[in-house]
Amino acid sequence: MTVQFHDRPLGDSALAQLFGEARSYNGWLDRPVSEAQIEQIHSLLKMGPTSANSQPARFVWCRSQDAKNQLAECAIETNRAKILTAPVCVIIGYDLDFHEELPFLFPHADAKLWFDGNEALRRETGARNSALQGAYLMLAARSLGLDCGPMSGVDLDLVTARFFADQPRCRADWICSIGYGDPASIFPRSPRPEFARFNRIV
Ligand SMILES: Cc1cc2nc3c(=O)[nH]c(=O)nc-3n(C[C@H](O)[C@H](O)[C@H](O)COP(=O)(O)O)c2cc1C
Repeated sequence: MTVQFHDRPLGDSALAQLFGEARSYNGWLDRPVSEAQIEQIHSLLKMGPTSANSQPARFVWCRSQDAKNQLAECAIETNRAKILTAPVCVIIGYDLDFHEELPFLFPHADAKLWFDGNEALRRETGARNSALQGAYLMLAARSLGLDCGPMSGVDLDLVTARFFADQPRCRADWICSIGYGDPASIFPRSPRPEFARFNRIV
């Protein structure tokens, strides 16, 4: 196996696209997102690290009007249009029994054993790593030229019941609209802390 070293920083334009100028959008341009783009987002996000490569996140991509209607009904009033007008809104959930997939995902150790019979550890690990996967998802979407609108203002029990009915061990955690953001829909950027405020180098 040859590993290519990527030891140079990305250029300013890439950094701006991913971070500096990337925003959370509240409204969307009338421009579709294809199934191929959704699969491309996944092909990138799945490469992000998770503990024991556990990949506990489960994604439901609401692209049809019916699915978006169903999801919007679960949301607080102010989030409804942000779901309905987006080309895609993805539900990020996680599987409490993610360890069942570890023989496939982490074949060089019996990692399933670490989680067997320990639901508390699975819950903690699943929540932590699926949140990471959601972050990878947003960065993947941005790196493909798309914008994101993350939201937790939804009834998660209702979303879980509606969208994971056939996967009773999965739980919805948050949702994220994806598309081409309407610049008219964003507020001025909120303050970000200077380094010393929340960091210590020890
Ligand atoms: C997990 C999560 C939940 C959020 N929930 C909501 C929400 O329910 N409704 C909403 O309008 N914005 C929501 N936001 C958007 C945040 O307010 C926004 O990302 C933050 O203010 C930073 O904005 P910026 O990316 O434009 O700088 C959420 C963001 C995240 C990451």
